[in-house]
Amino acid sequence: MRMTRADRGISAAAAQRLKPDRRFRRPGIRGKMCGMSAARSDPADGARRRRLATAFEAAFGGRPTHVARAPGRVNLIGEHVDYHGGPVLPQSLALDTRVAFRAVPADRVDLRTTAVGVEPAWQRYPDAMLAVLRERGVPVAGFEGVVDSALPIGAGLSSSAALLVAVGLALTSAAGEAVGAARLAELARDAEHRTGVASGAMDFVAALFGRVDGPIRIDCADGAIAPVPGPPPSHRWAVVSSGMRHELAASAYNARVAECRAALATLRDAGVTDADRLADVGADRLPTVARVLDDLGTRRVRHVVTECARVDTVVAALERGDVGAVGAALRASHRSLRDDYAVSVPAVDALVDAIGVIPGVAGVRMTGGGFGGSLVALVGAGTDDALAACVARHPGATLIDPAPGPAASVTPWVA
Ligand code: GLA
Repeated sequence: MRMTRADRGISAAAAQRLKPDRRFRRPGIRGKMCGMSAARSDPADGARRRRLATAFEAAFGGRPTHVARAPGRVNLIGEHVDYHGGPVLPQSLALDTRVAFRAVPADRVDLRTTAVGVEPAWQRYPDAMLAVLRERGVPVAGFEGVVDSALPIGAGLSSSAALLVAVGLALTSAAGEAVGAARLAELARDAEHRTGVASGAMDFVAALFGRVDGPIRIDCADGAIAPVPGPPPSHRWAVVSSGMRHELAASAYNARVAECRAALATLRDAGVTDADRLADVGADRLPTVARVLDDLGTRRVRHVVTECARVDTVVAALERGDVGAVGAALRASHRSLRDDYAVSVPAVDALVDAIGVIPGVAGVRMTGGGFGGSLVALVGAGTDDALAACVARHPGATLIDPAPGPAASVTPWVA
């Protein structure tokens, strides 16, 4: 894959610590920097480094100077509420996307990938990121880079956001540009909008603010971010790809956004004027919702209202180590996504049902945008064999490495 277009002159390559964006004063995210992080000792790192080095050498000759990485995420709960101003609970993953790069004294941006057979779909993301940076006046240097991703594409684990963020970090760092994490999250989301998906902020904030020690609760109304504990030692998160690749731009994702926008307008016309977003409509007003809206609108709003409440149920349950309560909320979330928000598909429902009856599984649900993609489950010790056997019985389904990973960063290239 190659992006080439005339660029302004370059500044020195500098994977510097990025400074906080002064325009943002949100609690919890003020001052966040996308900085250097310690190198991980994952044995797969060696293989990926070699793959990137080989591809870089073949494409450009010589070596990159830096590598930018951005993690995928698994959203534990709070699905399809980020663009309604609701709370979400993503865990950033060790699975990530990397861009090995160097600034060059030339008027071009040239980005390749180690992946085979993914053009041209892949290309629209870097193209969109570059276009947004240019439009907003963020300097972009002459640049050579190679992308390598460990994230399954279309698995609902935020592969597109990881790509956008890694490319955005690489392009801005190569130009020596200090872009705050909150600003970069917004720029990357705007780039995703250009690809045709009216997505919320969750995936980008998760990539840029995630932590290895547990999930973060993001309040998508005010941008506040809070750390939340992981499950007690008796339990762990399991992630399963259904094997059904989802494609948000082609899915009903944008239709849900539009349906909900219409529902909110109707509610406001009917006197619910204190709700600027659907997340502001509390459970106490569901009777009004049912009276004012048709069946479809009622179901869509009911999902948003109940899902927002479930996020805080899960946060409180994790804080006291109550796996039963977390599991019950996961199961209720799936029913709501399936029946009220209509973003699941029968193959995913069948997998949720099959995993849900395995002894020791506290709860399971679809995760991410839906229409295929992945499932997240809270599972007890001793369930591994039964879970693996269940996944093996479902064609195309695979276990995904759920290991948590740190936020996006830029580090010097280590040969
Ligand atoms: C996709 C979008 C997110 C979010 C989820 C559903 O991942 O990119 O913004 O809406 O779907 O929770």
